[in-house]
Amino acid sequence: MSTSGSATEFDNIDYFTDPSLVPDPYPYYDHQRSQCPVLPTSNYGVVAVTGHEEASIVYKDAELYSSCIAVGGPFPPLPFTPEGSDISEQIEAHRAELPMSEHMVTMDPPQHSRARSLLNRLLTPKRLKENEEFMWRLADQQLDEIIGDQTGTVKCEFLEGYAKPFSMLVICDLLGVPEEDHDDFRQMLAPRPGNTVGSLEGETLDHNPLQWLEDKFCAYLEDRRANPRDDILTGLATAKYPEGDTPEIIDVVKSATFLFAAGQETTTKLLSAAMRLLAERPDVVERLRKDRSKIPNFVEEMLRMESPVKSAFRLVKKDTTLGEVDLPAGTIVMVNPGAINRDPRRFDEPHDFNFERSNVREHLAFGRGAHSCPGGPLARVEGRVSIERLLDRMDDLRLDEEKHGPEGDRTFNYEPTFILRGLTEINIEFTPRRPDAATS
Ligand code: HEM
Repeated sequence: MSTSGSATEFDNIDYFTDPSLVPDPYPYYDHQRSQCPVLPTSNYGVVAVTGHEEASIVYKDAELYSSCIAVGGPFPPLPFTPEGSDISEQIEAHRAELPMSEHMVTMDPPQHSRARSLLNRLLTPKRLKENEEFMWRLADQQLDEIIGDQTGTVKCEFLEGYAKPFSMLVICDLLGVPEEDHDDFRQMLAPRPGNTVGSLEGETLDHNPLQWLEDKFCAYLEDRRANPRDDILTGLATAKYPEGDTPEIIDVVKSATFLFAAGQETTTKLLSAAMRLLAERPDVVERLRKDRSKIPNFVEEMLRMESPVKSAFRLVKKDTTLGEVDLPAGTIVMVNPGAINRDPRRFDEPHDFNFERSNVREHLAFGRGAHSCPGGPLARVEGRVSIERLLDRMDDLRLDEEKHGPEGDRTFNYEPTFILRGLTEINIEFTPRRPDAATS
């Protein structure tokens, strides 16, 4: 998987629409970083940040860098023309016209802090522990479905068979969706072709899963406010802001439903990247089998090497300078976790997969600062539990060569979007592991 591209070709490429960068964006990121880790580009005036240190500054400074365009960046164009050295007031005046303005990912303080506080009620250590117990059960259920009563070679497309339903049902459980409703969620929220956010091929939404979710959660929460029970949804329905006031139902609903948007596809992409690596590297499988305490580091290195969030955006609020580059108010800054996590100034041999590296947790795949991913601890556990169970249940794991081609001539397809990085499918083969071998 390599992108051939000369420096001049890279200079003329449109990062946002050119499909040639999709299979392997890393040489392009290297090219940008080699010119400057903070690089003004000809793509819609966007400034690309490919340096680890510079990206940390952007992530951590919500006063200078607004998240109001966090997801779409230059699309659609700003609904106003930035004027002067401080556009804070313009941003506030037009915020509601910006896409996803109702979700916390695009909010700035103090509104952001209030929205995020509602999540804290949910992501407690106790809830995460219970959620992990569900994950172990779910991982086994998914693998039982894949294996059935087969004893010889099992073939499976891992995204549909495992990663997608797993990451979605984990969020259902986190939010306390009753298990009898899980099948409805599975049907309504299964990602469909063409529905990927930021798709280069355009949106073809034939139904609106977010609307369905919002209606469902409105109904749950209204019911729990009227008839409180001893359950998680009641906890969510009765959560208050730190100031003691009770949020509108719709604000709680937005916080809850956004977890599906933020946590489902990203985790799916982490799990499928891990599966590709394991299927291609029996040596890594062996090392993990010998020492399972290395699994968390494996997950970290996976996040570094194949960061599921490919681009996050900020709008410069007040004239500033980053890495000696002047950024006037109104500049759109793009941070690429996949690029900053391969910055050679931070990671030795950045293109090598090495889960023994000493600074394996220094990647920024979950962002940093006020918006840093609140689902990070959960996604890490999802990775760990899944890999434990894959090692327990699969022997002789390999790629399906009918689908991906023979060694030395493999093909893999990635989602055509500038926002996320992930395989469209990963076809594997394995021999079910005998139960008496499952603990080794
Ligand atoms: C491997 C999996 C995941 C990755 C790589 C990931 C990555 C990220 C990143 C980079 C951000 C910051 C965006 C920005 O600064 O503009 C973010 C925010 C967020 N993530 Fe995740 N995420 C993952 C899984 C999850 C999960 C499982 C959940 C929920 C259960 C979740 C919920 C959120 C939410 C709610 C935000 C917005 C936070 C805010 O704006 O304050 N994420 N995620």
